[in-house]
Amino acid sequence: MIRIGVLVSGSGSNLQSIMDACECGEVDGRVSIVVSNVEDAYALVRARSKGIPTRVVSHTDYPDRETFDRELVRILRESGVDLVALAGFMRVLTPSFLRQFPGRVMNIHPALLPSFPGLHVRQKAIDYGVKFSGCTVHFVDEGVDTGPIIIQAVVPVYPDDSEEELKDRILRLEHRIYPRAIQLFAQNRLTVDGRRVLIRDLRKDRDACLTNPPLDS
Ligand code: GRF
Repeated sequence: MIRIGVLVSGSGSNLQSIMDACECGEVDGRVSIVVSNVEDAYALVRARSKGIPTRVVSHTDYPDRETFDRELVRILRESGVDLVALAGFMRVLTPSFLRQFPGRVMNIHPALLPSFPGLHVRQKAIDYGVKFSGCTVHFVDEGVDTGPIIIQAVVPVYPDDSEEELKDRILRLEHRIYPRAIQLFAQNRLTVDGRRVLIRDLRKDRDACLTNPPLDS
């Protein structure tokens, strides 16, 4: 059973899905610490209601990113975490942080990387006119949203979508794929080979296909 440290800044719906998946045995692990850089993040309420230890480390209390990250490392080490899961954590981690947890930091991003990295990505997807968007769980490297991709899920985008509608459509899938990626990690089935994440014992669906609009419409 792996110990998971989750870093959050906001609502924590992904944290919720990870905690729930651990609770029902879908993930062979448990969330051992939740750290927020925002004091009133709703994610903290969610963690406390499950009895999971929480810490607030406000980046504004630290002179630079290095010292802030050093404190995060200290707390995560103290909890003996095997995996660090970023779940709506709005800070970019330093290389020194990542060196402490090599191949052990994951993030979820609400677009199909490498398209639309960064912020405000649902609106960017709508404005660009893509027919599909989705979400990506990836290992974190020193870039922003550039690390090796573990799992992706796809949703259709419609021209009259509001940002909120697309956000909800993507979020529902985020809650399914993040626990799945964590379980693959917990089962030791992931190997990083350069940019590629190899997944052991994978069932392939060679005919899988989605079109938007549907071919018969
Ligand atoms: C999600 O859309 C996630 O993809 C992004 O930040 C958002 C966090 O939402 N990285 P929540 O706090 O998990 O509800």
